[in-house]
Amino acid sequence: MSLYSEKVMDHFKNPRNVGVIEDADGVGEVGNAKCGDIMKMYIKVKDGVLVDVKFETFGCGSAIASSSMATEMIKGKPLADALKLTNKAVAEALDGLPAYKMHCSVLAEQAVQAAILDYYKKNNIPYDEADFKDVLSEHEHDHDHGEGEGE
Ligand code: FES
Repeated sequence: MSLYSEKVMDHFKNPRNVGVIEDADGVGEVGNAKCGDIMKMYIKVKDGVLVDVKFETFGCGSAIASSSMATEMIKGKPLADALKLTNKAVAEALDGLPAYKMHCSVLAEQAVQAAILDYYKKNNIPYDEADFKDVLSEHEHDHDHGEGEGE
């Protein structure tokens, strides 16, 4: 049995929504300090709905598959729904990730939050910090803290 599901391999080999949105309404960039992988998410928002989402991921196959799947899951959805996207849901939609690769899906969840937070800030839209706990608390995490994330 292969370590990775067919869906992971599919999204890794044919990632959806790769690229840059030049006139993005929000951009979020997150990284994992341990592996050095970086994910950048671009969003276009209209009437509170994510009308377009694109990403660039400089990272492992699981991070690429996770970001691809995450964009598919939030595109066309209201911001409030996109904020509820968890790395677990992304991993489940990919038919699972090996346990030691779960942290890669965390990047996708954080990148979505970071892009929406950027949009809110740019437009002076009030937001609830609780919706952005993964990106706002990042600096409080010390290095080994992320280990159990997503479990
Ligand atoms: Fe870095 Fe997967 S190993 S995100």
